[in-house]
Amino acid sequence: SFVTTERLLLDAQKRGYAVGAFNVENMEMVQAVVAAAEELKAPVIMQTTPSTVKYASLAYFYSLAKAAGEAASVPVAIHLDHGSSFELAMQALRTGYTSIMIDGSHSVFEENIALTKRVVDACAPSKVPVEAELGKVGGKEDDLDGGSGGFTDPSEAKEFVEKTGISSLAVAIGTAHGLYAGVPKLDLERLGEIRKVVDIPLVLHGASGLSDDAVRESIKLGICKVNFATELRIAYSDGVKECFKKAPDAFDPKKYGEAGRENVKQLVINRMKVCGCDGKA
Ligand code: 13P
Ligand code: ZN
Ligand code: NA
Repeated sequence: SFVTTERLLLDAQKRGYAVGAFNVENMEMVQAVVAAAEELKAPVIMQTTPSTVKYASLAYFYSLAKAAGEAASVPVAIHLDHGSSFELAMQALRTGYTSIMIDGSHSVFEENIALTKRVVDACAPSKVPVEAELGKVGGKEDDLDGGSGGFTDPSEAKEFVEKTGISSLAVAIGTAHGLYAGVPKLDLERLGEIRKVVDIPLVLHGASGLSDDAVRESIKLGICKVNFATELRIAYSDGVKECFKKAPDAFDPKKYGEAGRENVKQLVINRMKVCGCDGKA
């Protein structure tokens, strides 16, 4: 079924697992993610960044996700990841996206609140849940260079959630987009502090490159949605490269597309098991 993220995240919060949120960049990745969800009987979120919807369009990804979701026996949602402006968030809402992130984390606190609240108010009549971010997740996400920003302050988080009315909050606790140079040190104590004062589902960005244990620990402390992007890009590309290595003269896109798709499916299955969302649909 094709659903919003509201019930998905609340169920995850209630039962102590996390829904995997996977960035998709073409049809094969959409198919791979939904096939993995079907196989594991897992609820799933697919998401697209601003550069991905520029590559194709919101309408293309909405249609792919809707087609996949309506044919699936498990709940499937399509989410705008790192929505970079009020206008893009509204375009996603009008297109039919079932979940929206507005990322005002690069603005100062009061501006982040104002922008986020505007999006929440606009999405409320259609009951589309809104995710927002407070503090800065490091690394390079999409076209934006996050740098190594400040971690989420628990008391600011409480005020932010109260003033904006968001459905879920992305926290900065030491993760970064992309792969990690060393082993990242997550501030799990801070996550626990945030959890104590914020009662909505929490979101972990930058999960590519995290150990299974790090993901599991953060879920124990209140993370209900875990974002994976870079690992899917690598899996897809590795599959395609492997295919061309075996058959350098291949010219049927279905052949190498299938190789990429299968690789992404296996990766997503592994990550879903770590999130504990298998069997939860
Ligand atoms: P990674 O690329 O590290 O998986 O981060 C994904 C993410 O946070 C998407 O919003
Ligand atoms: Zn992110
Ligand atoms: Na990462």
